[in-house]
Amino acid sequence: MRIVLLGPPGSGKGTQAKLMQEQIGIKHIATGDLLRAAVAERTELGQAAHAYMARGDLVPDALVIGMIGQRLRQDGIARSFLLDGFPRNVAQAEALDQLLTGDHLALDHVVSLDVDREEIVQRLAGRRTCTRCGAMYHVRFDPPATPGACDRCGGPLVQREDDREETIRARLDVYDRSTAPLVAFYRDRGLLRSIDGMGSAADVMDRVLKEVGQRH
Ligand code: AP5
Repeated sequence: MRIVLLGPPGSGKGTQAKLMQEQIGIKHIATGDLLRAAVAERTELGQAAHAYMARGDLVPDALVIGMIGQRLRQDGIARSFLLDGFPRNVAQAEALDQLLTGDHLALDHVVSLDVDREEIVQRLAGRRTCTRCGAMYHVRFDPPATPGACDRCGGPLVQREDDREETIRARLDVYDRSTAPLVAFYRDRGLLRSIDGMGSAADVMDRVLKEVGQRH
C-alpha cells in the first residue's frame, strides 16, 4: 500500500506515521527527518537545506525531489510506503506521480489530517524530541517520566529549532500558500481521505486505519 499523509505542521503526521508503522508494518518515510539527519551530518544536502528549514521555508524542490527519488529506489520501498512531509506543493506531487509511474505504480490513499489552528500551535510549542533516539514527546499531552530525559534511552530532550513562535507562524503561512492546494489536487483524483485529527493519537490512528481499509 502506498499512502501520503498530508496536514499542516503539528497536525500529527509523524505521530500517526510511527503508530501505523508499528501497527501495520508500513515503512515510514519523513522528508523532515531525512533533511534534519542531513543537517546534523553536515552533508552537502544538509548544508544547502539548513537555512530554509531554520526560517520555516520549503527546501528547493530539486533537492527534495532528488532525495525522495533516491529513497524510493532503495530496497524496493516504492512498492509500499507511508510518506510524511512529501509532497508539499503541486510540483512535488507531479514529480511523485512520475517517479511512481516509472515503476508502474500509483498512490492508493492520501490521508489529510484536520486540526484546529489553536491546537496546532500548542502541539508544536510543547513538542520535545530525543537527540539520541528521535523519540517524540509533548510537555503536556505526552510528557516523559523524568522532565528533559527520554523514557526509552535516557537521552536529552530538546525543542526543534523551527518550533519557536515566529517560525511556527512562517511554517503555517507556507502550508496555506503551497501545501493546502494539494487537498483539492488529490480530491480531484479521488484519492483524498479527510480525517478529524483532534482527540487522542490512538483515536486518530483508529480513524486513519479505517479510512485506508486496515481496520473495520
Ligand atoms: P517536517 O519535519 O515535515 O515538519 P512539519 O510538516 O512542519 O510537521 P511537523 O513535524 O512539525 O508536525 P507533524 O504533523 O509531524 O506533528 P507531530 O506528529 O510531530 O518539516 C520540517 C522542515 O523541513 C520544513 O519546514 C521544510 O523546511 C523542510 N521540508 C520537509 N519536507 C519538505 C518538502 N517536501 N519540501 C520542502 N521542504 C521540506 O506532532 C506534533 C506534537 O504534537 C508532538 O509533540 C506530538 O507528541 C503531539 N501530538 C501529536 N498528535 C497528537 C494528538 N492527537 N493529541 C495531542 N498531541 C499530539
